[in-house]
Formats: sequence, structure tokens, C-alpha cells
Amino acid sequence: MIFLPLFLALCCFLGSPLAQATDTLSANQTLQDGQTLVSSGQVYEFGFFSPNNSGAKYLGIWYNNKQPLRVTWVANRNSPITNLSAELALSSQGSVSLQNGSTKYWSVTPVGAVNEPFLRLLDSGNLVLSDASASDGSGDYLWQSFDNITDTLLPEMKLGWNLRTGLKRNMTSWASDVDPSSGQYTFSLEPPDAPQLILWKGSQKHYRWGPWNGERFSGSNELRANAVFDPMFISSPEEVSYTYKMVDNSTLSRFLVTPDGAIQYLAWANNQWTNLVTLQRDYCDTYGTCGPYGTCYDSSDTNCRCLKGFRKNDSSPLDWAGGCSRIWGLSCGNGDGFVKYTGLKLPDNSRLAGNKSSSLEECETQCLKNCSCMAFTRVDVHGNGGDCLLWSGDLVDMKNYPSGGDVLYIRMARAEIDAIARAKRRRRIITAVSISVSTVCGMLILALIGRYAHRRRKERQRAEYLVPRDSGDGGPEEDLELPLLDIVAVADATNNFSFQNKVGRGGFGEVYKGVLPTGQDIAVKRLSLTSGQGLKEFKNEVILIAKLQHRNLVKLLGCCIHGDERMLIYEYLPNKSLDHHLFDPSRRKLLTWKTRFSIIMGIARGLLYLHEDSRLRIIHRDLKPSNILLDSEMNPKISDFGIAKTFTVENAGEMTNRIVGTYGYMSPEYAMKGHFSVKSDVFSFGVLLLEIVSGHKNWGFYHPDHDLNLIGHAWKLWTEKNALGLIDVLIGEEFPLKEVMRCIQVGLLCVQQRPEDRPTMSSVALMLGSETSDVPQPKEPGFSAESFAVSTDSSSSVKILNFSNDITITAPASR
Ligand SMILES: *[C@@H]1O[C@H](CO)[C@@H](O)[C@H](O)[C@H]1NC(C)=O
Ligand SMILES: *[C@@H]1O[C@H](CO)[C@@H](O)[C@H](O)[C@H]1NC(C)=O
Ligand SMILES: *[C@@H]1O[C@H](CO)[C@@H](O)[C@H](O)[C@H]1NC(C)=O
Ligand SMILES: *[C@@H]1O[C@H](CO)[C@@H](O)[C@H](O)[C@H]1NC(C)=O
Ligand SMILES: *[C@@H]1O[C@H](CO)[C@@H](O)[C@H](O)[C@H]1NC(C)=O
Ligand SMILES: *[C@@H]1O[C@H](CO)[C@@H](O)[C@H](O)[C@H]1NC(C)=O
Ligand SMILES: *[C@@H]1O[C@H](CO)[C@@H](O)[C@H](O)[C@H]1NC(C)=O
Ligand SMILES: *[C@@H]1O[C@H](CO)[C@@H](O)[C@H](O)[C@H]1NC(C)=O
Ligand SMILES: *[C@@H]1O[C@H](CO)[C@@H](O)[C@H](O)[C@H]1NC(C)=O
Ligand SMILES: *[C@@H]1O[C@H](CO)[C@@H](O)[C@H](O)[C@H]1NC(C)=O
Repeated sequence: MIFLPLFLALCCFLGSPLAQATDTLSANQTLQDGQTLVSSGQVYEFGFFSPNNSGAKYLGIWYNNKQPLRVTWVANRNSPITNLSAELALSSQGSVSLQNGSTKYWSVTPVGAVNEPFLRLLDSGNLVLSDASASDGSGDYLWQSFDNITDTLLPEMKLGWNLRTGLKRNMTSWASDVDPSSGQYTFSLEPPDAPQLILWKGSQKHYRWGPWNGERFSGSNELRANAVFDPMFISSPEEVSYTYKMVDNSTLSRFLVTPDGAIQYLAWANNQWTNLVTLQRDYCDTYGTCGPYGTCYDSSDTNCRCLKGFRKNDSSPLDWAGGCSRIWGLSCGNGDGFVKYTGLKLPDNSRLAGNKSSSLEECETQCLKNCSCMAFTRVDVHGNGGDCLLWSGDLVDMKNYPSGGDVLYIRMARAEIDAIARAKRRRRIITAVSISVSTVCGMLILALIGRYAHRRRKERQRAEYLVPRDSGDGGPEEDLELPLLDIVAVADATNNFSFQNKVGRGGFGEVYKGVLPTGQDIAVKRLSLTSGQGLKEFKNEVILIAKLQHRNLVKLLGCCIHGDERMLIYEYLPNKSLDHHLFDPSRRKLLTWKTRFSIIMGIARGLLYLHEDSRLRIIHRDLKPSNILLDSEMNPKISDFGIAKTFTVENAGEMTNRIVGTYGYMSPEYAMKGHFSVKSDVFSFGVLLLEIVSGHKNWGFYHPDHDLNLIGHAWKLWTEKNALGLIDVLIGEEFPLKEVMRCIQVGLLCVQQRPEDRPTMSSVALMLGSETSDVPQPKEPGFSAESFAVSTDSSSSVKILNFSNDITITAPASR
């Protein structure tokens, strides 16, 4: 325990006479060291505390009867009371002061005449100064602690601007866990016209999210409504602020800047604080990581790239401080135009164009006529239909954000715009030729480039005629740079596909480890000529994986075509696949619960991304341990998208298709009828989860007492209230019982018979990730006995269902 609340020890535990706690301090009363106010619902307590029993005393608010003490507000954070004791007094004129004799630590003096002042601690955690004689009583407070945030934002507390009074509220971290004085991190919402959330470290911007685009702060997926809390952005003539409320307002929660600068949402559940969300996700979130005109990619290592039309400034590959500079210099007034970029976290330093609610054309005109304007976009900042944001100077702090990124129009030289058009014409010819040459991968790439160039041509027209039609012509596309590797290079890298380099068999082929001349380790998947993976699957996999960016998905580095042979080149993951660890007793022993849980969470996140966050929306269809690869830190990465299917939102329901997948992981509706949906992936995930917990395979599970498979066994134990019997005996160390039980319960929910009963991956992730969420009782699972194996024959009859019915992303190639 870090804090020793002086008063708690006296009052609440020893039952001193002060037990008849009050929530109000009236005029001429004082609050002394040892006395407290307790809010009427016993939620918060206000009084003196001494962090870590240090001797320095502070006046503050904390959660009543919750250990350890968590302070939500401090009055005198930068003026500790030392060597003396002080008292808080409320004068009959309504001024509040914390002092001893002439030494004043803190005070509030209301403006204007006050008749019957009182200070009250509310159940929201707000300490308010009011005038009982004022007509409505509850209306305007003379002062409230909610206007003076320290490091914690409670529900209903507002970060940002009261435009009427000019008050600006921001959060400043404690100096350390035991020192409430102002630390080096401040979290603020600014400026009011194009609001962004900024975490300052001293006077430096450290992290930034925004501007607000009508739905979210650009580049932050975390601050969206979810099952636990509901974040809100308020924009009105009176105020511009960020606040949140709890979905269930009986849940205690706090939003906090920690002394080391993490921004976190915490909730109180099961007698402890659980971290629900940390805003900073990765390296890319650090402010300006990639320099001007650089964009950061949320993937493992090489994170920075230049925007198309720019090249890297510094010669050292690791140094991105100089960012990127234009290939073609601008010449304002001589045909400069704009090129559309999509899937971005918008850069810093935007400003709102004078006219509220302007069209994209008006916005473009405004930007074009000012030579210092480098970019524009139109987003709905203030909820009035659409605002024009303009940028001048270098564009910094962008991030590639394929899921939910924004559109930005950047000023480019005429030469660049013309070059895009020329390249487009050239590529169109090459594309035609290359189809006959049958270099599949090359064709794909060219087709994609062609599509890209086609879009660019549209943009060129836009730039020429200055008549953009609308802000969202079709889905976002990005610059797909998938290198086509030469067979000689790949053969060299893998020692001529030597036996020693073979590291396993993935779906449809053998996998070799290799080293590129650059020293980078790669995994080469050599698709066997006889494999079931046809051209379509190959195309699918190449395009899909190349477009997906998530730390729990394996990264595709390139591909290679040689005659009939096709190869995919991936990042190499040293720890092989999950089955390699899970189904080998000696290695399984090394999988601690912590590792297993983090693998489960990683898979859940990766799958959630595929289902809901990636802009393609993908059903994996063959989720199993051998398709989960592990990096050097045992982080899981989902691989093998050969049979994945994209689905659009309209088609998000069930689809029927030929059955590909692996028995034991297939949902009943898929294995029997070929119906697949995201819920069939959820089923596979459930099986995987139960396998990870138990260390046993579902398919081929053997138990001396019954003929059930692992799912059936788990369900039997669950109904017998003996679910713990499922846990792998080889998990030697101690493990958190609740977490394990929650996992099993979620696993059983995922394998329920009816797809509509199964949770979505977002609720799975939420149930696994937070102890606060309710986990429903599972119903009987599907496929709890192996007897269905008889029906597997049916798969052969549906195998040749027409692929052209698919909603796949082969579409771009044919456009
Ligand atoms: C507070 O004290 C002042 C001066 O002693 C007195 O005039 C006033 O009536 C008192 N107010 C209350 C509410 O007791
Ligand atoms: C808090 O106090 C304990 C014991 O008094 C001490 O060991 C610990 O180092 C202190 N923590 C800090 C951060 O000062
Ligand atoms: C508090 O007392 C200690 C020793 O009694 C002394 O060293 C210190 O300077 C005093 N601090 C203040 C702020 O008076
Ligand atoms: C001021 O501090 C001294 C020393 O701790 C204490 O005896 C006295 O009661 C304090 N006075 C007030 C008004 O708190
Ligand atoms: C508000 O907070 C600031 C620092 O966070 C502090 O300096 C100031 O005194 C506070 N004002 C009031 C009235 O509490
Ligand atoms: C935070 O708010 C305080 C008080 O309004 C202000 O003095 C300070 O400049 C603000 N800090 C930042 C980084 O906005
Ligand atoms: C929850 O919100 C409702 C509606 O605002 C309110 O009536 C109720 O008192 C709140 N409950 C708690 C525990 O704050
Ligand atoms: C990029 O390089 C050019 C030329 O070397 C230089 O003028 C420019 O300032 C550099 N830009 C940045 C942001 O460092
Ligand atoms: C603002 O909009 C009005 C009407 O749409 C237009 O007449 C005016 O020129 C615009 N002002 C600017 C600065 O674009
Ligand atoms: C052009 O943009 C700059 C930078 O924002 C601004 O200071 C300037 O006033 C603008 N000029 C005109 C004519 O709008």
C-alpha cells in the first residue's frame, strides 16, 4: 500500500466518534486534520492525506473505503503542508482557505456576494461551493473541483474549454506515485477550433490524437464507445470539451495521466482497479516519429515511409528526424494541384477555414489560393455537416491507419501530377502485356498499380478542373508496394531450398527459412504444384495479406513467381507455430499461463482486426494452432489467409461457399452446410482457446471415460461445475483462477451450437480483457462428439462451388 490515509485509520477502521460523517461544511465551520467529508452515497471522501506516510500533507478527494487509497483530486498539490497541521475554513462570505495562521496553502474566493455558503462533496466526486440562498440551489456553483482537474478525469468531468468563461481544463500528472505535485506530463484538448488531444511532456508534444473528425480523434481507435464507457466530444458555442460517462454508471472509473505519461482508463471491479485502455499503442503514436511528410506504420520494425511523391531526406536509414522532401518542388500559381491520400491519421497543426460548413470544392479553392496552404480536408469537426481544415507548413505526425483513417488532399507540383498520369498510361499497357506473360504476382501488382494510377488520374482531373465531386469516391486505397523477388535471390536465400532450411509445412506447401543479402530473416512458403491452392487463393492471399497491417498478423514481404511455381515471402518468426509448442509435452511445460493468456489475447485482437477493424473485413476460415505463428517474444501472429474471404458490410451475414478448412476447428454450420460467417471464425477461436487452456487437441482428444471430443469434455466439466479440471496440468505455476475461468467460459460461448448465440470478436476481446464485463452463461456447444465425422464426406460434393460468386477483392484487377 502506497498511501497511509491518516484519517481512514482513525475513523473508519477504529470507529471514532466522527462516524456520523457528513458531506457538507457550512459557514464558520472548519475541517481539521483527521476529519473528513463523505459524499451522501458513501462513494467519495474528502480530507487530509499523506502519500506514503511521508509527512507532507495534502487536502484531497479519494474513493471511500477502497484500498489502496486512490486520490482523484488534490487542492494544494504544489503547496504541501509540512511541519504544521492546517485546517480548512469556510467563511461566512464564502471564501474557502486552507491555512495555519499566516501560512496559506490553498484558497478559493468567490466573486460577488454570498449569503449562505456551503461546501459539499457529491457522489460524482465533485466538491462544490454553493450558496443555499441562491434561487435554484443546484444550478451554478460558485466553484467546483471539477473545474480544477489534477491528474484524473472522472465521468462527467470535462477536459477542454468553457468558451463562455474562458476556462481551460487540462490534466497534469503527479510527479511520482507518492508525490502529487505537478509532474511533467499534461494532457489537454486544444485548440478549440480544430480540437486535438495532446499529451505534453514539459513543453514538448509527446503524443497527439486528432483533430476530431466527427467520429473520433483522428488516429485513435481507442476512444470510441464500447461496452464499458462512452466517450463524448462536445462542441457548442459555449464549450468545446471531451468527457465520458459509464455505460453502467454504478461502475467506478477514472481516466488518468500516470506519472510516467501513460493515459489510461481504469475501472473498479472485483476489489481492484483494472486497466481497460491505454491510449498509447505503439511506437507510431510517439509524436512526429517519422518527420515531415513521413508516415508511420504500425508494424514491427521498419515503421517509417515517405508519402508517395516524397523521398527520404536523411541518408541514414534509421534516422527519420529530417523526414521526407518533395521529389518535385512546388511552384505556386503554376499548376500546383492536390493529390488525395487515404487511410491517414491527419497531421498536426490544422486550422479551421473561416467559413463554417463549406463544401469540398470551397475548401480546395481556399487552400489553392493561399500559397502557404499545403493540404486540406473536409471533416465534420463541429457537427454542422462539414468543416474545412487547412494545413500550412510541413505536414508532421501522420500515421498509416488503414482502419478508420482519414482522407487528406496534399498540394503537389504539376510535374508530380503529370508523372502520375503518364505512369498510369504506361502501366496500363504493361498490364495488358503482363497478363499474357502470366506472371501472376506481377500482374496483381501491376493491376493494383493500375488501379492506383487510375485513381490518381481522377485526382489529376480534380486538380486540373478543381471540381472534386465528393470526398469519398469508393474505398480507400493505398500504395501497395509488394516486391516481386527473383527466383535466384530466393534460392540463394534459402540455400537452394535445402532440407536444412525447411522449417515446416504451412497450408498448401512447405516453408523454408532464408536470409536475404540484407541480413533479414525470411520465411518462404513454396506452394506445392499439386496443392489445392489455385490462382484465386494465391491472389487472395497476396493481396489480402499485403493490405493488412496489425501486430497480430504475419507480415507479407513479397512474392516470387517462376514458371508454375509460386512463393510467398513472409517475415520470419523464430518461434514457429503454436501447435509446435502446444502439442509437445516438453515445450508445453514452458508455456506459462501468462504466455498462454497473452497468446489468446493476441489471437483475439488479430481476429477482431480481421473482422471489424481492417477496412477489408475478413473471415479467416482456417484458424488453428498451426496457423498461429510466434515471434521471439511469443507474440502470436495469425497466418495463412489463402482461404480468407472478404465480406462487405452488406454481406456481413452468412455466405455459402466451398468448404475449405480443418476439421476439429470448423463450426457445425460450416462443416455441414458450407455456411460461413464471422461466427464460424469465432467457433474456431473458441476451439483454439480451449486447446490452449487444456493443452489438448480437440480433434483426436481421448478420454478414458467418454467418447466426447475436447469441446464435449469441456462442456461436461462445465455442467458438472468442475471447469477447472480442464486446465492443463502442465501449467505448473500459480495462475489467476478468475482469469482462467473467464477464459473457459468465453471459450464455451464461442463454440455454442447456434452462430447467433456466439459472441462477436469485439465482445470476446472485451470479455477477456476486462474483468468488469459480464460473461453470459454458455449454452450447449456444437460438435461436442466426434460422430459428425461421418458427414465430412459432404464436403467433397460442395468443393467445386463457383468461386466467381465470391465477394473477394479480385475485383480491382478486373476494373
Ligand atoms: C459566522 O460568523 C459571523 C461572525 O462571527 C457571524 O456574523 C455569522 O452569522 C456566522 N454565520 C453563521 C452561518 O453561523
Ligand atoms: C514508501 O514507503 C515505503 C516504506 O515507508 C518505502 O519503502 C518506499 O520506498 C516508499 N516509496 C516511495 C516511492 O518513496
Ligand atoms: C520542518 O522541520 C524540519 C526538522 O524539524 C526542518 O529541517 C525543515 O526545514 C522544516 N521544514 C519547513 C518547511 O519548515
Ligand atoms: C498550526 O500548526 C501547529 C503545529 O502543528 C498546530 O499546533 C496548530 O493547531 C495549527 N493551527 C491550526 C489552525 O491548524
Ligand atoms: C487549480 O489548479 C491549479 C493547478 O492545477 C492550481 O494552481 C490552482 O490553485 C487551482 N485553483 C483552485 C481555485 O483550486
Ligand atoms: C493547463 O492549464 C493551466 C491552467 O489553465 C495552464 O496554465 C497551462 O498552460 C495548461 N497547460 C497546457 C499544456 O495546456
Ligand atoms: C445513473 O444515472 C441516472 C440517470 O442520469 C441517475 O438517475 C442515477 O442516479 C445514476 N446512478 C448513479 C449510481 O450515479
Ligand atoms: C530536407 O533536406 C533538404 C535538403 O537537404 C533541407 O533543405 C530540408 O530542410 C530538409 N528538411 C527537413 C525537414 O529536415
Ligand atoms: C464564405 O461563404 C460565403 C457564402 O457561401 C461566400 O460568399 C464567402 O466568399 C465565403 N468566404 C470565404 C472566405 O471563403
Ligand atoms: C495564408 O495562410 C497563412 C498561414 O495560415 C495565413 O497566415 C495567411 O493569413 C493566409 N493568407 C490569406 C490571404 O488567407
